[in-house]
Amino acid sequence: MFERLIEQVRACYENAADAKQKAEAAADPAAKTSFLDMEERWLALAHSYASLGSVERLSAAMPDGLSKPQERARANDSLRLQEVSTSLIQEGNLAALYDRLLDAAIALMSADMGSMQTFHPEQGELLLLACRGFHPESAAFWERVHLDSASTCGVALSTGGRVMVPDIEACDFMVGTADLDAYRRSNIRAVQSTPLVSRSGRLLGMISTHWREPHQPTERALRSLDILARQAADLIERTQIEAALGESEEGLRRFASIVESSDDAIIGKSLDGMITSWNKGAERLFGYTAEEAIGKPVTILVPPDRHNEERMILERIERGARIEHYETVREHKDGSSILISLTVSPIKNSEGKIVGASKIARDITERKLAEAREKVLMAELTYMNRVATAGELTASIAHEVNQPLTGIATKASAARRWLAAEKPDMDRVRDVLDQIETASYLASAVITNVKSMFSKENHDKAEVDINKLISTVMNLVSVDLRKHRIELKMELDDQLPPVLANHVQLQQVILNLVMNAIDAMRSVQSRVLSVKSSLNGRNSVHVSIEDTGIGIDPTNIDRIFERLFTTKRNGMGMGLSICHSIIENHGGRIWASPAVGRGSIFQFELPINAGEPGA
Ligand SMILES: Nc1ncnc2c1ncn2[C@@H]1O[C@H](COP(=O)(O)OP(=O)(O)OP(=O)(O)O)[C@@H](O)[C@H]1O
Ligand SMILES: [Mg+2]
Repeated sequence: MFERLIEQVRACYENAADAKQKAEAAADPAAKTSFLDMEERWLALAHSYASLGSVERLSAAMPDGLSKPQERARANDSLRLQEVSTSLIQEGNLAALYDRLLDAAIALMSADMGSMQTFHPEQGELLLLACRGFHPESAAFWERVHLDSASTCGVALSTGGRVMVPDIEACDFMVGTADLDAYRRSNIRAVQSTPLVSRSGRLLGMISTHWREPHQPTERALRSLDILARQAADLIERTQIEAALGESEEGLRRFASIVESSDDAIIGKSLDGMITSWNKGAERLFGYTAEEAIGKPVTILVPPDRHNEERMILERIERGARIEHYETVREHKDGSSILISLTVSPIKNSEGKIVGASKIARDITERKLAEAREKVLMAELTYMNRVATAGELTASIAHEVNQPLTGIATKASAARRWLAAEKPDMDRVRDVLDQIETASYLASAVITNVKSMFSKENHDKAEVDINKLISTVMNLVSVDLRKHRIELKMELDDQLPPVLANHVQLQQVILNLVMNAIDAMRSVQSRVLSVKSSLNGRNSVHVSIEDTGIGIDPTNIDRIFERLFTTKRNGMGMGLSICHSIIENHGGRIWASPAVGRGSIFQFELPINAGEPGA
């Protein structure tokens, strides 16, 4: 018997030592804490088994072969206790063990009925585990017992000590309560409830016995019950520890398998920069096996020109800081470069001291390539959008270019007329030639403007006068405005500072917004387009383009900036998504809202020093 017990205790200590070792080796802080918890639980379990041994020894030490009835009874009690502790050590069916404990309690107390409950601290209630002799309605009534119950177990729960009621009919706190009815229904006259308390003083449950007649148990019976209660408490505590151990082992197994199967490289390193752990993801990403990597300096992964970076990371970790999604370059075993995103967190020991770092590295080469592909695609689409707009604007453009050309033609024939006169008026001819020269400059400026606007390559940023830009665009669309009888209201702030931007792209934004506004007003009666510019605080310029059109359907408002979203028969759904990406690239923001009254208002803001993306 004892051998088995000693074996159990030894196994617990071995498991505890193993958990401690794993905690020391674990690179991940969460795993470390779980292993330390596990160690603590194994030790608690070891103590629980060890304490069983002392009860066993105690009951076994009771003298055998006694002849007097009183001594015989004592011997019977001790045998019963011994039997219970034996079955506790041998383990087995838990429900059967609870039954045995309960039967032993009823026998020790010479009672007619009994019940056992476990305590659930989160709910603050006792839950019925097993009962004997209760009327089914009483059993259902006491399924859960709260602090405010008038049962002996409820009172014992609130006082923390044993409660003995020799006669329920003479008990003050039961008068007129539903508990009294439940006792009567089960033919109970006397009852006691003894709390089951763990060695650390935690309430674990309750063991109660009941008599059909008024009854006062002897001191000896109560003492035996206390020994039994101790064993019951041990059993409950042990069951709880075992369940928790099972959970944390399961949790750690899951955790370990997550780390192992993670696509990301998860690496542990000590404060002197040595690799301490290496998962399969790291193997895949960097090409080294765990055997090759563990124990080597982490700099085997760092290109020589970035060794400083590794020192900077370690310094931050030593200060307890975390590094998140840091994009950098590392080296594969074969010497090739890998673009990665790094997240590094400190590893602390059980005293909270930082002893290393755990690194998660994610390969972002693919993502970067995808981003680059996206950029090319966007540039292509932006150009397509410009060409499409140019197609829509041919009438306007032709008009813009034609105006000075027509002027030149009329003026040239006028000049010819002056020259053909008998006395040519040379002064007038000179005047006309001057006008022709100006008009031809104007025509060429218009063509340059239009060409630059619809040219393909232009990423340069320069100081841009937003008001001038707006005027150019409005000139370009003036024919369309006239054709659709749209009234134009302009309120441009003449104090606007220049903005560092790509003027072709900004023109495209304004043009797209204006074209959308024109489209939106096709089917309405009164058509007004208001374009405003203003200084927003000291650091940004604000532009708004408002129409009195059909407005945006509220269900679409979140989608209009999405690429390919369109409600138009011939729309591409590109305009707004291009505006959005251009404005974002200039570090600004763009948004839409319903206009007061009817129509929509599109607004954007640009930082004055929008030179750098995201500035
Ligand atoms: N001023 C506006 N009033 C009402 N709805 C608008 C306005 N501007 C845009 N929308 C809505 O947003 C949608 C997307 O606009 P976007 O400019 O991106 O594409 P589109 O105009 O349909 O096509 P395109 O690629 O030719 O510009 C439009 O189809 C329309 O439903
Ligand atoms: Mg559009």
